[in-house]
Order: sequence, then C-alpha cells, then structure tokens
Amino acid sequence: MSASVLFAKGITQQVSTATSTLTILQDVSLEVESGEAIALVGVSGAGKSTLMTLLAGLDVPTQGEVSLLGHSLSTMDGEARATLRRESVGFVFQSFLLVPTLTALENVVLPQLIRSEPIDEQRGKALLESVGLAGREHHLPSQLSGGEQQRVALARAFMIRPKILFADEPTGNLDQHTAQHVIELLFELNKEHGTTLVLVTHDPALAKRCDRVLTLAEGQIIDETSTAEVS
Ligand SMILES: Nc1ncnc2c1ncn2[C@@H]1O[C@H](COP(=O)(O)OP(=O)(O)OP(=O)(O)O)[C@@H](O)[C@H]1O
Ligand SMILES: [Mg+2]
Repeated sequence: MSASVLFAKGITQQVSTATSTLTILQDVSLEVESGEAIALVGVSGAGKSTLMTLLAGLDVPTQGEVSLLGHSLSTMDGEARATLRRESVGFVFQSFLLVPTLTALENVVLPQLIRSEPIDEQRGKALLESVGLAGREHHLPSQLSGGEQQRVALARAFMIRPKILFADEPTGNLDQHTAQHVIELLFELNKEHGTTLVLVTHDPALAKRCDRVLTLAEGQIIDETSTAEVS
C-alpha cells in the first residue's frame, strides 16, 4: 500500500493581461502515489510547465488545492513552501538554472550547502561522472555546452536524494546517446530510492517508461493511460 505524495484538486490558473483574463489551466485534478513515475505530455502551450510549477509549489493556483508530501500548499507562505522544496524536492527545468559563478561540482553539491549539510564531494563527483562529465568538475557553466549544463543540473537534482523529482523536458537539449544515459539515471533513481517522478516530455518512448501518462490539451487533462495495463 502506498500513500499519495502529490494530490491536486480542481486547479485553475488564470493570468490577467491588460485587456483580458487568460485561463492556462482549468479544473485539473490528479493524484500521484509514492514511488510512482508519471509523464505529462501534450503539445507546446498545453500547460505542462505551468502545471508542474503549481504541483511543485513554486507558484499557487488561482483556484484549487495542491497537497505535496502531506502538506497543503495553499495554507503555507512562500518561505514555508521554499523550505519544503529545499528539503524534499528535486528539480530539473527546461532552463538549467545553474549558478554562473560556481563550478560544475559546486553547483552539484549546492543543495547540501543550502541545507547546511556536510558536503559529500565524492557523491557529487560520482554523479557528474554518471552523466558523462568526469574531468569537468572545475569548469564554470559558461565553459560548458548547453547539453553539458543540463547534465550538471540533473546531477544536482539527484544530489539530495529527493522524495519527489520534477523534471521538465530533462533531455530536450541532449543528443540521443546522452539523453539515453540521463534517462537511465532518472529511472534508476526512481527505482532505487523510491523517488516519485513527475516528468514532462515530448518523447513518447520516454513517457511509456513511466507508470502513467497524463495528456494535457488547452489546460485540461484529456487522457490518462496506465502503461502497466499494456505490458
Ligand atoms: N505568465 C504568463 N502569462 C501569460 N501567459 C502565460 C504565462 N505563463 C504561461 N502562459 C501561457 O500559458 C500556456 C501554457 O504554457 P506552458 O509553459 O505551461 O506550456 P507547455 O505545455 O509547458 O509548453 P512547452 O511544451 O512549449 O514547454 C501558453 O500558451 C503560455 O503562453
Ligand atoms: Mg513547458
């Protein structure tokens, strides 16, 4: 029996412009069990990244509720949500968000520094090696290619052994070989540590490796497929 680690009910997200109000998400509900891997798919502009931002507590929805790791996000202020993210949540975004003045290795161990934990440099190095960046530990992000920066961001997300990992197109900028490597790493983490995975992807093969695939269109979930049923 596994508990729900992520729960969303009736999420609606609207943004106001000078002339109108735009509804980006409309009445989205979902539940993710501990250790489960779900894929969010859908065309560009469907609302995948917006949904992920709300599920991860980076923003609060106009309407509806999100419960993350047993915490009702709407009852928490920004600081409390930041603490929850820092302690238990891993992120990989479309943009890598590396700190430009820190080396690759420093970026990878940064989550431990932020949590005032002892720095496990060996683990940082091993993670960089596992994403194919052995020997690049002391390079700054500006000295790495886009794909290499993305791999540093992935290594960083794994550093704190998060309970839940949100990954938005984590392999979007990688060549096929490196992407495959990174995907294996993602699912290894998911299995070994029981990490729950919420993955936005355009890659049908990658989506199929998740336990469930949720399809978004125009801000609504239009389809939900359990991949276990077909295998
Ligand atoms: N702050 C904002 N203000 C206005 N419109 C926004 C804002 N954020 C997102 N949108 C719009 O909401 C829609 C959904 O955006 P979102 O980034 O969630 O899409 P997506 O499914 O992640 O697309 P992609 O696959 O291209 O990354 C888009 O039409 C986008 O232009
Ligand atoms: Mg997106």
